[in-house]
Amino acid sequence: MAKNVKLGIIGINSIGATHANACVKTGAMEIAAICDVAAEPLEEAAKKYDVSASACFKDYRKMLAEADIDAVAVCTPNVFHKEMAIAALEAGKHVFLEKPMAMSAAEGAEILAAAEKAKGVLQMGMVQRQQAQAAELRKLVTEGKLGEIYHMHTVLIRRRGIPGLGGWFTTKAMSNGGPLIDLGVHWFDLAMHISGHWNPTAVSAKTYAKFGSPIKDYTYVSMWAGPPKLDGVCDVEDYATGFVRFGDKATLSFEIAWAANTEGKAFVEILGDKGGARIVDSDDLVVFGEEGSRLTDVKYGFHTEATSYDQQMLKFAAACRGEIPPVATAKEGLTVMKLIDAIYTSSETNKEVVIPG
Ligand SMILES: NC(=O)c1ccc[n+]([C@@H]2O[C@H](COP(=O)([O-])OP(=O)(O)OC[C@H]3O[C@@H](n4cnc5c(N)ncnc54)[C@H](O)[C@@H]3O)[C@@H](O)[C@H]2O)c1
Repeated sequence: MAKNVKLGIIGINSIGATHANACVKTGAMEIAAICDVAAEPLEEAAKKYDVSASACFKDYRKMLAEADIDAVAVCTPNVFHKEMAIAALEAGKHVFLEKPMAMSAAEGAEILAAAEKAKGVLQMGMVQRQQAQAAELRKLVTEGKLGEIYHMHTVLIRRRGIPGLGGWFTTKAMSNGGPLIDLGVHWFDLAMHISGHWNPTAVSAKTYAKFGSPIKDYTYVSMWAGPPKLDGVCDVEDYATGFVRFGDKATLSFEIAWAANTEGKAFVEILGDKGGARIVDSDDLVVFGEEGSRLTDVKYGFHTEATSYDQQMLKFAAACRGEIPPVATAKEGLTVMKLIDAIYTSSETNKEVVIPG
C-alpha cells in the first residue's frame, strides 16, 4: 500500500479548501494540520476536515515546528510565498507552492536555491497542465504530430472578473500585479509546457488599468473572491497584451484580462508546420490538420472523474513518496517569473526587453 502522506495546509480559504477537498475526494493525502491567520476559515476547515485543535495553527512557523506532517501546501497571498516555501523546505518538508511562484523572479531564484539544497520536493501549482486535454496535446507534440511548433497564442479574458476588488489580489504590495501575475502565469506555463519551448528571450508588452479604480465605479457582476471592498486598494493592471520571442524559432502572443469591453474567452492555441491545436478553457481539444488534399478538424472529447485539482494532489503525493518527479518544477516556475518581470518592465519602459536566461 502507498505510504500515507501527511499534509499541512497554510492558508485554508479558497484554494486551500479546494486542495483539501481534492485530498478528501481522492485520498491523495491526509490533512494532518491546517494554518490560517484568520479564525473563521480555520474553524470552518477544522470542522469540515476533522482536524483536532492541536493540529490547527495561526502561526505557520509553529505548524512547521510542531505538527506531524511530511508536506506543506502554501496557499496564501503571493507576498508570503517566498518566506513560507523556504521555511518549509528548510524544515525538511515537501512543498506544494501555489502560483505565482513568488512576487518576482528574484524571489523565485531564492526559492529555487532553497529547493536545490532541500531534501524534500517542490511542486508548483500549475494546475492547467493537469487537464486531460493538455496532457493529450503535449503527447501529440512530443510524438511530432504537429511538426515544428513556431507560434503560441494565449488568450484569457474576463469581461468583468476582477477577483476580490479592493482586497489583496488588487493590492500591489500583496500580489505584485493584476491578471498577468494571477492568470498569465497559468497560460504561459501551459503554452511552454505543451510546446516544449522554455527559453523566452525577449518581450514587448503593455499593461493597462482601466476598470478597477475608483472601486465604486466598477460594474460588479461576479467575483472569485467576494464583492468589491469599497474602502480597499486597487493599484494593479486589469489588462495585459504582448509578444514574446523564443530566440528566432518561436513566438507567443498574449492577451490576459480581468476586465475588458469584450466577451469573455479563454484558449491556448499552438501552431506547428504539420498541424495546429486549440484548447478552449477546460473544454475540448481541437487539432487542425491535413489528410491528403483535405483539411481536417479533429475534436477530442474528454470525460474524467478526477478534476485537474484532484490530479495535481495525487501527483504531488506520488512525488512526495519518491514515485515520480514533481510535475511542475521550481526551475519552470522561475522561467515564468522572469517572463512576468520582463513584461512589466517592457510596459513601464515602452520598449522590448531582453529576458535573462
Ligand atoms: N491554482 C489556482 O487555480 C488558484 C486559484 C486561486 C488562487 N490561487 C493562488 O493561491 C493563493 C491564495 O489565493 P486564495 O484565492 O485562496 O486567497 P484567499 O484570500 O481566499 O485565501 C488566503 C488565505 O490565507 C490566509 N493567510 C494570509 N496570510 C497568512 C499567513 N501569514 N499565515 C497563514 N495564513 C495566512 C488568509 O487569512 C486566507 O484565509 C494565491 O497565491 C493565489 O494566486 C491559485
